[in-house]
Amino acid sequence: MSRVRHDGPLVVGAGLAGLSAALEAAKAGAKVLVVTPEPLLNACSSAWAQGGMAAALTAEDSAERHARDTEAAGAGLVEAEATRALTENGRETVEWLAALGAPFDRDADGGFVVSLEAAHSVARVARVGGDGAGRAILTAIVAAVRAEKRIEVWDDARLKGLLRDADGRVVGALVARGPGGKLTQITATAVVLATGGAGGLFAATTTPAALKGEGMALAALAGAEILDPEFVQFHPTAIDVGLDPAPLATEALRGEGARLIDGQGAFLLGEEDDADLKPRDVVARAVHAARASGRGACLDARTAIGEAFPHEFPAVFAACMRAGLDPRVSPIPVMAACHYHMGGIAADADGRTTVPGLFAVGECAATGVHGANRLASNSLLEAATFGRRAGVAAAAEAGGGKPLPAAAGPDLPDEAMAELRAGMTDRAGVVRDEAGLSHLIALIDRLEGQHGSAAALLAARLIVQAALDRHESRGGHYRADYPETAVVAQHTRVRLVQPAILA
Ligand code: SIN
Repeated sequence: MSRVRHDGPLVVGAGLAGLSAALEAAKAGAKVLVVTPEPLLNACSSAWAQGGMAAALTAEDSAERHARDTEAAGAGLVEAEATRALTENGRETVEWLAALGAPFDRDADGGFVVSLEAAHSVARVARVGGDGAGRAILTAIVAAVRAEKRIEVWDDARLKGLLRDADGRVVGALVARGPGGKLTQITATAVVLATGGAGGLFAATTTPAALKGEGMALAALAGAEILDPEFVQFHPTAIDVGLDPAPLATEALRGEGARLIDGQGAFLLGEEDDADLKPRDVVARAVHAARASGRGACLDARTAIGEAFPHEFPAVFAACMRAGLDPRVSPIPVMAACHYHMGGIAADADGRTTVPGLFAVGECAATGVHGANRLASNSLLEAATFGRRAGVAAAAEAGGGKPLPAAAGPDLPDEAMAELRAGMTDRAGVVRDEAGLSHLIALIDRLEGQHGSAAALLAARLIVQAALDRHESRGGHYRADYPETAVVAQHTRVRLVQPAILA
């Protein structure tokens, strides 16, 4: 094992949250090391985002209104203070990214073009290149990171564990580098986890399959509190053409009038114009039920978008055409698929976790702004806004003591991973119940017995156990055996009884 001492913060992950943190930490004067397993722009969910960035940018909107919509979508579990911190910075974040070169769509007067997505009471999603928001924003921030001399990037390093000192402070990370997975121990003044979500734990997902909740699991092993891990969001319109991950058909299509229909052409959610823009969990369950009953589910954009499809939604159009499907003339077959993890490492708006020296930002963090059901397009806003704040906070950390010895946990072999993913989609997906979740716990026990305590298995266990323990339905968590929503909304807070010293 090699050892590297980095005199500044270490950022793990290179999506929008991680790179925003890195840029601000560098601006605050810190030397920053970013580690990521893939070349920049690859394998992070941010680059795949289509809809855009939600922010109050128009005269009829306001930060308060945006906060109210966020709270209503989050089904009783949205934290007001963090949400205000998010929505009040909406315009500033969009303008910061625009100044870095993100080419947001503009109208003739130079204003931001905004579109409507589900559960927003007003159009407020700033778009970039139609449906190319994530990639365009990431491209701009990657260029800024490459131009910043204080930031060094290792793009061949996968997180294997967190290092702690004798006081329990996180003082670095263990990473596996290159094709051989050579272990390197990095000590740093602070660690910012920006490791993304857990979509790769599910067979049906719209996120990069490499994202398996391992950042959350390793933070839990380092003693961090995990908040609401059971809350997973399923997107109702993943394109069902047998691809893994499934390409996304952005909600903005429904915002522009595309309709959900079954195989016979009947509306899935009713005839009203806005019926398909109900909260994402409601629409996901309708799609799931239509498919389960054999009626099938399709997104029909032929009338609402038609010939404008290639120009208005180039990414979705390309994905459909690659699968031999022309959305101008055929409805798009869709399914519900894992899309976003609302739960994760408990963190405040500056990314501070419950463990000194450890910060978490973006999808791996749970700051309380998404509650039980994230409002569409709030994730890019959160990634950049809180990512920036965490960068400033992490830059001010002085570091800790000598790291205790650490060893890397095992990886799950491909066949075991495939079995876990299939089980998670079938039994911890859109509709859950006690029998299915208990079956999954038994599966995780068995896989752990066979292959050891892989971080992906711990991540799955955190999600499944919390889902089993939540005897109600709320937001993205639907229990067929407990369909009612409890009167009092309560968070799930998990701390491992005896956090491991070794990773
Ligand atoms: C979408 O474009 O439908 C996804 C937006 C989001 O998940 O925030």
